[in-house]
Amino acid sequence: MIHFIKVSGWALLCAGMCFMGQASAGQTLAAQERPVYLDPEKPVEERVEDALGRMTLEEKIKIIHAQSKFSSGGVPRLGIPEVWTTDGPHGIRPEVLWDEWDQAGWTNDSCVAFPALTCLAATWNTELAHLYGKSIGEEATYRGKDMLLGPGVNIYRTPLNGRNFEYIGEDPYLAAEMAVPYIQGVQENGVAACVKHFALNNHEVNRHNTNVIVDERTLHEIYLPAFKAAVQKGHAWAIMGAYNLYRNQHCCHNSFLLNDILKEDWNFDGAVVSDWGGTHDTDEAIRNGLDMEFGTGTDGLRSGARNAYDSYHLAFPYLEKIRSGEVGTEELDDKVRRVLRLMFRTSMNPYRGFGSFCSEAHYSAARQIGDEGIVLLKNEGGLLPLDLDNAGKILVVGENAIKMMTVGGGSSSLKVQREISPLDGIRERAGKDVEVVYARGYVGDPSGEYNGVTTGQNLQEDRSAEELIAEAVEMAKDADCVIFIGGLNKSWKQDCENSDRASLGLPYGQDDVIEALAAVNPRLVVVNISGNAVAMPWIDKVPAVLQAWFIGSEAGHSIADVLSGDVNPSGKLPFTFPARLEDCPAHLLGDYCGKSAKDTVDIEYKEGIYVGYRWTDRQKNIKPLFPFGHGLSYTSFAYGNPVVDSSSMTADGTVTVSVDVTNTGSREGKEVVQLYISDRKSSLPRPVKELKGFRKISLVPGETKTVSFTISADALSFYDPQKHGWEAEPGKFDAIIASSSADIRGKVSFVLQ
Ligand code: BGC
Repeated sequence: MIHFIKVSGWALLCAGMCFMGQASAGQTLAAQERPVYLDPEKPVEERVEDALGRMTLEEKIKIIHAQSKFSSGGVPRLGIPEVWTTDGPHGIRPEVLWDEWDQAGWTNDSCVAFPALTCLAATWNTELAHLYGKSIGEEATYRGKDMLLGPGVNIYRTPLNGRNFEYIGEDPYLAAEMAVPYIQGVQENGVAACVKHFALNNHEVNRHNTNVIVDERTLHEIYLPAFKAAVQKGHAWAIMGAYNLYRNQHCCHNSFLLNDILKEDWNFDGAVVSDWGGTHDTDEAIRNGLDMEFGTGTDGLRSGARNAYDSYHLAFPYLEKIRSGEVGTEELDDKVRRVLRLMFRTSMNPYRGFGSFCSEAHYSAARQIGDEGIVLLKNEGGLLPLDLDNAGKILVVGENAIKMMTVGGGSSSLKVQREISPLDGIRERAGKDVEVVYARGYVGDPSGEYNGVTTGQNLQEDRSAEELIAEAVEMAKDADCVIFIGGLNKSWKQDCENSDRASLGLPYGQDDVIEALAAVNPRLVVVNISGNAVAMPWIDKVPAVLQAWFIGSEAGHSIADVLSGDVNPSGKLPFTFPARLEDCPAHLLGDYCGKSAKDTVDIEYKEGIYVGYRWTDRQKNIKPLFPFGHGLSYTSFAYGNPVVDSSSMTADGTVTVSVDVTNTGSREGKEVVQLYISDRKSSLPRPVKELKGFRKISLVPGETKTVSFTISADALSFYDPQKHGWEAEPGKFDAIIASSSADIRGKVSFVLQ
């Protein structure tokens, strides 16, 4: 039988490199002339073994560590290409110089910025998660990237964590359900998703020297499920180790996490990638499951005759140990197999497409995700939606109404082709007779630069805080409506990698501005832009509050869509908004991150499994400002009584719980129906309830839909540290149907036999 190499960029490259003299590019090649590893029709494992057998020791070492800031080496002799990675997770990072973080200065690398992952989480829409992954994967493909450094699935443990905006909220079930389709969407493009940061990376201060102490049950119930789902359901091809330590070992070469759990228990067959600069020890890197080393501090190519990348732990130091006989090659071959597998799935996958970049389809995806992620927190007296066709005079106040938010925040910072600011979005949408005026209100961070990418905005403002408030108040007096747009801004300590927030409160005196505006105009809407919960001491004086996130390129359009009612809000909070920092157990029970320290600092997760609503649910005296799962709509939904198809189930069976939901208002809208499970009696203490299902449905006025959840024993089980495994104990369980974790609409019970 004759096979033909498919004509793709990669096939032409192979034909050019490997068969020079036998066949030229474009000609068909008989299968027998082609080595197995280059034959895409052969099973991947056969190709891996074939390639492995042809590689020299030095070539094997070459492909397991970086050769530039974002790529690892290939084997030119065999036509095996390099692996190119990119941040991730909200858009494709602009190109940097080979050896530096500085910009390469390309003019064709301005991307679409998709909404931050918190916004995606707030959609509670798994189809949108898939669309997100597919779209960003297409952008990555177009840009020649083989691995996208994302998604991030670390659990939201404290509202101070500077990187929460890059993650998927406080609940392991929600994070898992949303991460899986994102990963699948990315990988359908032949681009690997690199799920990060494995594991227990829940704050930024001291991130390189925090040693997390967490009990086994909490690890399995709260901090691992999203990673496990990414591996077992999403089939992620890569995982990134975290910076911190666990059991006094850095997570990038942590024997327990990488060898025992990830590779042994979960059968992960992909590559473990270090976080940039997260590798610290050669022996541990060799033995403890790390496959690809990136970003270890070097002095670049500038000094010395030898490439500084050769000094990486998994480069010459490793080679020397093998040559001297100190270590064998068993671990090396395992690493190389994993990297080759990654290449056959990505860079050497001749079937992958060409992708697309900055397409209108990608902008549309970004807008849909933004539209569905915005959460209507409060809407007293039906102030929203605003009739933007006939609104008279609208005053917009606040720096976040005009500041570009795609630059900043750390490694997820982007260079975008376009970004619609909230003010521009509102102006674009407002009718021709509507007057939209703007006042700055406060000065946050007027700078607009990250890693050499500048926004080009001049936000310099020399007036004092009092003058700015006075101006806004004066303008608010005769406005028909005031929209304050503030929050955080991805600057240092304001939702930014490598720093945490200093407090729960809004920075830059914004509370004073909001109080002053509320005092003169009762028609005040606050739009909070952040990836974290913030304190709202003025909440009783403000009738309408929207939680918008870092929405990216289409921010202004999405915000205007929801303010105007063109889109009926349907986002739900993916984390609890505590009223006070002390209501968050990480802060109540201990120092969440330790003081800045050079030496390793132990941080104990004393709250155990009681994170987020699992904590507030059991505290009689704590009422969150807004609960997990909360989000209002411009219409209303009535829930019928839930019914169960059988009052008992066996351990290997299921029961189905169904509930009718009716749109009782006058607008079409979407509702997220949530299923929580409560274990009435158990041998170990359990949370009052836990999210185990959700479904987003769309209803026109008067329409009713039946939502059904199939519950299996998995949803009833807890992790038993005595048995080192999951356990579903017989007994009575409640299936709770809710519109938020605090808004329970019905309950039905069944027995596990
Ligand atoms: C971050 C990662 C990122 C990497 C590469 C690190 O500082 O923690 O999330 O992917 O840099 O930019």
